Amino acid sequence: MLSAAGVVAQALTPLPEAAALDGAVAESLKSLRYDREANHLQILDQLLIPAETKYVDVCGVEDGFSVIKKMQVRGAPLIASVATLALAVELDRPEAALELPALEAFVRERCAFLLSSRPTAVNLANALDVVLAFRASSADEYRIGLKELVFALWVAEKEENRRLLHCATACVLANFPEHKKLRVMTVCNTGSLATSSLGTALGVIRQLHAAGRLEMAFALETRPYNQGVRLTTYELVHDAIPVTLITDNMAAAAMRLQSIDIVLVGADQVALNGDTANKIGTYMLAVLAAYHRIPFFVVTPSSSINRNRADGSTITIEERPAAEMTTFNGKSLAPEGVGVWNPAFDVTPALLITGILTELGNFAPANLASGLASSF
Ligand code: MRU
Repeated sequence: MLSAAGVVAQALTPLPEAAALDGAVAESLKSLRYDREANHLQILDQLLIPAETKYVDVCGVEDGFSVIKKMQVRGAPLIASVATLALAVELDRPEAALELPALEAFVRERCAFLLSSRPTAVNLANALDVVLAFRASSADEYRIGLKELVFALWVAEKEENRRLLHCATACVLANFPEHKKLRVMTVCNTGSLATSSLGTALGVIRQLHAAGRLEMAFALETRPYNQGVRLTTYELVHDAIPVTLITDNMAAAAMRLQSIDIVLVGADQVALNGDTANKIGTYMLAVLAAYHRIPFFVVTPSSSINRNRADGSTITIEERPAAEMTTFNGKSLAPEGVGVWNPAFDVTPALLITGILTELGNFAPANLASGLASSF
């Protein structure tokens, strides 16, 4: 499974080209629409799925902050794309009609505001760092150049995803005998609705299906916000990919009784030692996978790695409102006044992770930092 150098094995078999699949992301699964000429942004309102497929306008940073905070969009790569594209839209608003030093200060303030929307997914901070490093010699150049930069970041996410899926799928297949069809467990939503592309862990599930190597995807419901049942099963059913929905507390039984071969999850923030923050419940899956001796892989673009964080102990974990746990479809499930702890993420220790699969290569957690350093 792992080589002596700690680099996860690659498959030699040819794989379906992710770029070919990218064109296959159906219009109804596109998480956002951006018209570059008109500088017009719309997002698919994920709170309405699966009942309704409705795009809503994002007319600037206030709207961008709001759709992220309310989780009308979510998923680490998508949060970064929506925030930066919202900033691009903001640059054409009357408030941004400023001379250069004032415009730069305005952008700094808008970035700080966007950054405060959701604290755990590091893709947003990484993207805003790129935005804030941008310089130009006049206000007009700055506005034009920054819009181009943001558009390029969005395009780069898709290319990064294409390479990620190729690397990650090869690694997954290398861990199993040729022709074996896999039973894959996953949590939350890491697909087209969490990215601007095919997705990370769910993207690999798509690739396995396209290669004829997926027997069944097992999607955890993902309480309390139900991204698994609302979004992941929606994507898989839409694409006619075999999926079985389970509740989170069925994970151990499914590992034992449903012959799960592998667990694939996404990431919101990976520390340099491989500790990984992801949707609450991921840590539980890693513990269960270790007990059942099932390989547990994190599939993530390098934009979800925090190169300034040595380990996961200091990652800020977002806590969500109690009502997300105590109510369902507006109806109360719990007695009035009950105390609630509602962390949106947990941190899986690197020790429990078989491999971290990125577009820059596949790494055992212990080799992540050195592998990243040598990939430039
Ligand atoms: O709270 P969410 O829905 O934004 O959480 C999303 C996740 O935890 C995903 O696994 C992660 O962002 C990776 S998405 C490719």
